[in-house]
Amino acid sequence: MMAPSSILSAFCFFLLGNRSLTNAQFNNYNTTANGTLPVYSSDTVPQITENSTDNDPNYIAPYFPLLGFKEYAGNPILAPNPANNWESAYLYNPSAIVVDGTIWLLYRAQNSTRTSSIGLAWSKDGYNFTRYNNPVVNATEPYEHVGGCEDPRVIRVNGTFYLTYTGYDLHTARLCLATSTDLVNWTKYGPMLPNVTDVVYNWQEPLVSWVPRQGWSKSGAILNERQPDGTYHMHFGDSFLYFANSTDLIHWNVTYDQPPYTPKLNVWEQALMESAAPPVKTRDGMWLKFYNGVATGLGGYTPSQYSTGQMLIDPVNNPYGPPIARLETPILQPTSVHEIEGQVDNVVFSEGLVQFKGQWFLYFGQGDAFLGVATAPVQP
Ligand SMILES: *[C@@H]1O[C@H](CO)[C@@H](O)[C@H](O)[C@H]1NC(C)=O
Ligand SMILES: *[C@@H]1O[C@H](CO)[C@@H](O)[C@H](O)[C@H]1NC(C)=O
Ligand SMILES: *[C@@H]1O[C@H](CO)[C@@H](O)[C@H](O)[C@H]1NC(C)=O
Ligand SMILES: *[C@@H]1O[C@H](CO)[C@@H](O)[C@H](O)[C@H]1NC(C)=O
Ligand SMILES: *[C@@H]1O[C@H](CO)[C@@H](O)[C@H](O)[C@H]1NC(C)=O
Ligand SMILES: *[C@@H]1O[C@H](CO)[C@@H](O)[C@H](O)[C@H]1NC(C)=O
Ligand SMILES: *[C@@H]1O[C@H](CO)[C@@H](O)[C@H](O)[C@H]1NC(C)=O
Ligand SMILES: *[C@@H]1O[C@H](CO)[C@@H](O)[C@H](O)[C@H]1NC(C)=O
Ligand SMILES: *[C@@H]1O[C@H](CO)[C@@H](O)[C@H](O)[C@H]1NC(C)=O
Ligand SMILES: *[C@@H]1O[C@H](CO)[C@@H](O)[C@H](O)[C@H]1NC(C)=O
Ligand SMILES: *[C@@H]1O[C@H](CO)[C@@H](O)[C@H](O)[C@H]1NC(C)=O
Repeated sequence: MMAPSSILSAFCFFLLGNRSLTNAQFNNYNTTANGTLPVYSSDTVPQITENSTDNDPNYIAPYFPLLGFKEYAGNPILAPNPANNWESAYLYNPSAIVVDGTIWLLYRAQNSTRTSSIGLAWSKDGYNFTRYNNPVVNATEPYEHVGGCEDPRVIRVNGTFYLTYTGYDLHTARLCLATSTDLVNWTKYGPMLPNVTDVVYNWQEPLVSWVPRQGWSKSGAILNERQPDGTYHMHFGDSFLYFANSTDLIHWNVTYDQPPYTPKLNVWEQALMESAAPPVKTRDGMWLKFYNGVATGLGGYTPSQYSTGQMLIDPVNNPYGPPIARLETPILQPTSVHEIEGQVDNVVFSEGLVQFKGQWFLYFGQGDAFLGVATAPVQP
C-alpha cells in the first residue's frame, strides 16, 4: 500500500510547489530579564575514557507506561550564560546520559543572532549542573552555517558516544552524526540521510496540505542495542516518525518510498511528531519511546502546543512500525511561565531520559529558551 503521505505529498507538490514553510513563531524573548540563575562553569571537563562505566549501578529497566512525572519546582535548572556569546541568548533541548556516576547533558544553546551550538554540562544530583565554557559541537561546516548545530541526542555503544544533531544552513535542516569517546572531542560524519525527502503538514493553511521538503531530516533517536535483524534502528523526522537502519551506526539507510514508522493518532500530536529521548529497553524486551507532538487545536489543546508522550515499540516483530501501544494523553505539557511564554510559546520539548539514584530524570526545553527537568519514581 502506498503511504498516505506519499500520495498527498505528490498531490500537494503539484498544487503548491516546493514552498518552504515554518509554523513556529519566534519571539525576541529576553531570557536575561526573565530568569538569571547562578552559573557554575568550568574550563575543564572531568575525564571520560572508553572504560568509563555506563548507567546507574542500581539501574532497573522500566515498563510501559512510565508515569508519575512531576516538574521540579526549581525549574529552570539551566539558563543562558551571558558571559559566553555562544550560549548567551537561549539554552534548551538537552540530551542526557549517565557515565561514571554522573549525569551528563548535551544541550542546545543560541547566541543573540540565533546560531545554535551544543554545550556540555554535568551533575552528581541531577539538578545542579556545572557546564563547560566552550561549545563541544558548533558550526564548522557549510551545511551548519549559520543556523548552527541543534537538538542533540546521544547514545553510548561499546565505549563510543554517537550523537545525532541537526545541521542547519538556514535553508535545509539535515540530521548529522558525530562520535566521541570523551563527550568533548567530536568527530563529524556529516549528514546521515542526504537524499531523504519528508513532508511537512501545513496545517495552518486554509487548504490543509502535505508539502515535500527535499533533503530535510531532523531528530534521530537511535536504539542503543543491535537488533536481531543485525542492524541498529533509528526513528527520525519532524512531521511523521520515519525508520532508518545501519549495520555500523555510521552509515544509515532509509527506504525512500516507505510509509512512515507511525501515523499520527492522538489529538495533541496532529500537527507533527518528533522523537524525544533515544528509546529505552523495557523489562519485557520491548522499547519505551518518548516523543514530542504538536497540536493543531483539536481536543482543547492550544494550537502549536508541544507536549511529550510515550509509545511502546517492538523492533523485533514490528521493525518498521507501527508502535504497539501509545499513551492517549501527554505526560508533560507547558504549564509554567517559562513554557507558556518564550522564544517560542507553549513548548515543552523533551530529549533526555535517564535513571539516576532511584529516580527517572526527564530533561526538556522550556519555550525554546530555558532547560527544565521532571522526575518520576522508578517502578517497583
Ligand atoms: C535583557 O534584560 C536585561 C535585564 O533586564 C537588560 O539588561 C538587557 O538590556 C535586555 N536585553 C535586551 C536585548 O533587551
Ligand atoms: C519576561 O520579560 C519581559 C520583559 O523583557 C516581561 O514583559 C515579561 O512579563 C516577562 N515574562 C515573564 C514570564 O517573566
Ligand atoms: C581501557 O582498559 C583496557 C583494558 O584494561 C586498557 O588496556 C586501556 O588502556 C584502557 N583505556 C583507557 C583510555 O584507560
Ligand atoms: C553568533 O554566532 C555566529 C557563528 O559563530 C556568528 O556569525 C554571529 O556573529 C554570532 N552573533 C553574535 C551577536 O555575536
Ligand atoms: C551547585 O554546584 C556548585 C558547584 O559545584 C556548588 O558551588 C553549589 O554549592 C551547588 N549548589 C547546590 C544548591 O547544591
Ligand atoms: C566553535 O567553538 C570553538 C571552541 O570554543 C571556537 O574556537 C570557534 O570559534 C567556534 N566556532 C564558531 C563558528 O562559533
Ligand atoms: C558492540 O559490542 C557488541 C557486543 O560485543 C557487538 O555485538 C556490536 O556489534 C558492537 N557494536 C558496535 C557498533 O561496535
Ligand atoms: C580528538 O579525536 C580524534 C579522533 O579520535 C583524535 O585524532 C584527536 O587526537 C583528538 N583530539 C584531542 C585533543 O583529544
Ligand atoms: C544521493 O544523491 C546523490 C545526488 O543525486 C547521488 O549521487 C547519491 O548516489 C545518492 N545517495 C544515495 C545513498 O542514494
Ligand atoms: C544499506 O544499503 C547498502 C547499499 O544498498 C547495503 O549494502 C547495506 O546492506 C544496507 N544496510 C542496511 C542496514 O540495510
Ligand atoms: C533495513 O531496513 C529496510 C527497510 O527500510 C529493510 O528493507 C532492510 O532489509 C533492512 N536491513 C536489514 C539488514 O535488516
